[in-house]
Amino acid sequence: MVDKGNKKVEVLSNVVSSQFNIHSSFGGVVPELAARSHLEKIDLITKKALKDSKLKLSDISAVAATSGPGLIVCLSVGVNFAKAISISLNKPFIEVNHLEGHALSPKLSSKLNYPYLMFLISGGHTQFLIVESFGKYKRIGTTIDDALGEAFDKTAKILNIGFPGGPKIEEWAKEGDENRFELPRPIYHRGGCNLSFAGLKTAVLKQSQFVKNKKDKHDLAASFQKTIIQIIKKKTQVAIEEYNKKIVNNKNLIVVGGVASNKSIRKNLKEVCKKNEFKIYFPEVKYCTDNAAMIALVGLEKFKRKQFSPLNSEIKPRWQLDTKAKFLKGAGVKI
Ligand code: KG4
Ligand code: ZN
Repeated sequence: MVDKGNKKVEVLSNVVSSQFNIHSSFGGVVPELAARSHLEKIDLITKKALKDSKLKLSDISAVAATSGPGLIVCLSVGVNFAKAISISLNKPFIEVNHLEGHALSPKLSSKLNYPYLMFLISGGHTQFLIVESFGKYKRIGTTIDDALGEAFDKTAKILNIGFPGGPKIEEWAKEGDENRFELPRPIYHRGGCNLSFAGLKTAVLKQSQFVKNKKDKHDLAASFQKTIIQIIKKKTQVAIEEYNKKIVNNKNLIVVGGVASNKSIRKNLKEVCKKNEFKIYFPEVKYCTDNAAMIALVGLEKFKRKQFSPLNSEIKPRWQLDTKAKFLKGAGVKI
């Protein structure tokens, strides 16, 4: 990535090496296989990124890598590789919070000023945060159990329609009757803009006993997606009200993370924003799911501020954007 000045950047390359084939037969990510594949691919990907961008290693000003949150075995591969390049070139190493990459991802294609409200919906996280400025985050809501992408993936696994589940559910839902199955909406009327999806997943599992043919699969996928949309429309409304209590100007919502590629979700959240006179921003679809460009953008912002990381910095598997936010997961948690 190159800084073009005036808040503009140019993405010279954005290589994505997907591991879907490796994990698909398991219906979820297998950490050991993921780590091995990271190791096998990382130098090839780096070579391809250099080739695509027509650069030499020595042209690089700094090296940024995701240091958390996530699977320690996978994060270590990228961080150690980045540190090695940084030592050999004598250029700064910059650790990046993966979630901060999502938080900045709409800026890859649109001009967007701070502050703004962020709805992060990915495979590992589901949170509402107020992005006050670069590096300043206030969490106002979170899932108290499963992440939204996880709920999509598990439902697809129950229906046996493939991995990753999100795009499959979206596809199957198109031809289904969304009113066929009645599913619960956990903590719909309470808990502020916190969310919960575990009960919904269990309900899908129970209903799956009635799934005998293709039509039933379409109907359950459609009913699941409809229920999800009802939940997130309501919770987005609550989050907007919370945001309005704190911030008078800049009525902007960004919806980011893998699940933000879903077209029905986009359409429905646009309606909520219109009603509330909020502007809504989505990243381009290629920047919704995990990608290098959004990590480079955070790296660039930190580079400009000289926020370099020491070479003995540790991996941070549980790195949160709002470090003061309470841990809200598990039985007996008060929301
Ligand atoms: O942001 P991401 O690439 O990885 C994490 O940081 O977790 O998100 C991956 C998640 C997966 O759970 C995947 O099923 C979901 O995003 N996803 C979708 C769609 N495309 C990807 N969920 C719903 N509809 C989609 N079209
Ligand atoms: Zn992600």
